[in-house]
Amino acid sequence: MKYYKWFNYIQVLNMKKKLKVLLTRHLHDFALIELRKRYEVTVHGGRIPMPKKTIMKEIENKDGLICFPYDIIDKDILDSANKLKTISTYSVGFDHIDVDYAKTKKITIGYTPDVLTNATAELTIGLIFDLLRRIAEGDHIIRKGKWKEIFGPFDYVGTEISGKTLGILGMGRIGKTVAEKASCLGMNVLYHNRKSLPKMHKAKYVSINELFKKSDVISVHVPYSKNTHHIINSKLLKKMKKTSFLINTSRGKVVNQNDLLTVLQKKKIQGAALDVFEDEPIGKSNDLIKLNNVVLVPHIGSSTRETRHMMADITMKNLILGLKKKKLIYSV
Ligand code: DGY
Repeated sequence: MKYYKWFNYIQVLNMKKKLKVLLTRHLHDFALIELRKRYEVTVHGGRIPMPKKTIMKEIENKDGLICFPYDIIDKDILDSANKLKTISTYSVGFDHIDVDYAKTKKITIGYTPDVLTNATAELTIGLIFDLLRRIAEGDHIIRKGKWKEIFGPFDYVGTEISGKTLGILGMGRIGKTVAEKASCLGMNVLYHNRKSLPKMHKAKYVSINELFKKSDVISVHVPYSKNTHHIINSKLLKKMKKTSFLINTSRGKVVNQNDLLTVLQKKKIQGAALDVFEDEPIGKSNDLIKLNNVVLVPHIGSSTRETRHMMADITMKNLILGLKKKKLIYSV
């Protein structure tokens, strides 16, 4: 009997010693199992995204935080965290975290680049096909029972992809991968970046104005920051050809959505495909939905089984390493 009491006492002590971790939403089971072996884990199961006040309350006594791109980890939240040592975000983007302020508090931050490069580049290529060959539009026509003629020479006419010019804004990991895939499709690739890059055999560096003037398709791959806020606005959009398309799979706020809406409504460009929006999720009343020259997808750049599994793995490992005060796999 005494032995059991002693055993229970040790168990309680061990429980007390366990570090505490907050997840703002559910993660893959394999990652949760690893986390639960080591920590006292709280997983938010309520409204998504987790309301700010709830995060502020929950974070108070937590040592680690796993968050997602919709969680705005700002000064208020960081100030509510009395013990926080590490944040691990399930995303390549970290614009939702006040990184500078977190660093003043010596909080380490992990993220998940590389593993989603291919998935996001594949989505971009998919959107090029969709826009230029009017795939989603064709699907809508059939579903609405509006397919009237078969093989009329001017019906459902799209644009050939091969031979067209793709303009990439932001030649990081994803931009480069899109460039490679697009050149395999016979596209000519131009790019604009903060600086021109060496060894870009398949893509030519141009000024941002030239990029917008010369491209048949513009694809946006810059991260969001105050420097890239609304970098694409009416001034640049007006430079685009009337027959051209814009694709955004980076962050919504990189594009001034009202300016884009205006050029689309006035048919100053031919179309756009958007995976990201200024405010997500967009609702049914959003004016973009009324246009048939846009393809809208719900922020699915990284959304493949393979990539999401790898993201969960890195997110979990970054957190464990951070709490052990070791070097993260990918740190901001
Ligand atoms: C990222 O990882 O930043 C994506 O945009 C979210 O899936």
